[in-house]
Amino acid sequence: MEDKIRILLPEDEVDERVEEIGRQISADYAGKAVHLICILKGGVFFTCELAKRITVPVSMDFMCVSSYGAGTKSSGIVKIVKDLDEPLEGKHVLIVEDIIDSGRTLSYLTEVLKQRGPADIRICTLLDKPSRRVKKEVKVDYTCFSIPDEFVVGYGLDYDQKYRNLPYIGVVEV
Ligand code: IMP
Ligand code: MG
Repeated sequence: MEDKIRILLPEDEVDERVEEIGRQISADYAGKAVHLICILKGGVFFTCELAKRITVPVSMDFMCVSSYGAGTKSSGIVKIVKDLDEPLEGKHVLIVEDIIDSGRTLSYLTEVLKQRGPADIRICTLLDKPSRRVKKEVKVDYTCFSIPDEFVVGYGLDYDQKYRNLPYIGVVEV
């Protein structure tokens, strides 16, 4: 059965905004190197597109955390499924996320990564649903788009592991 998907943010709009954020990051990190931490799997597409637009030296590492089971509801439990390969000591860390919803994932993650001695930690997200935030202390440094409370797919985001490869952001119509 095919789901019906309504386009929320078309490909060219997303690409344009990613380029803009890439430029901003390049300016903010001038004279430094930035260590991107891609949050798997949803952050993969955004991290790659963003990394191509950053002009300061970039290194990358990957981490997989899970806060959701199958489906669209948060379990409220965050666990590290795959940890980073490299230490963070002295690095300018930029966490790259697909979407911030309750903020539980990032609240937990920033606490864990802070213990590893980075020079600083910032957060960059493709999407934010501010109306859903439970963890108010999560401060987002770079947001491409704030969106209403709808379940979105595409550009890395999935619904039961489907639709990550869509080049735009869409809403699954129920
Ligand atoms: P949080 O911990 O509630 O902020 O959830 C963040 C994670 O939930 C994201 O990294 C996504 O994997 C997932 N998520 C939240 N909202 C959506 C959505 O609308 N579509 C797909 N995944 C989502
Ligand atoms: Mg997900």
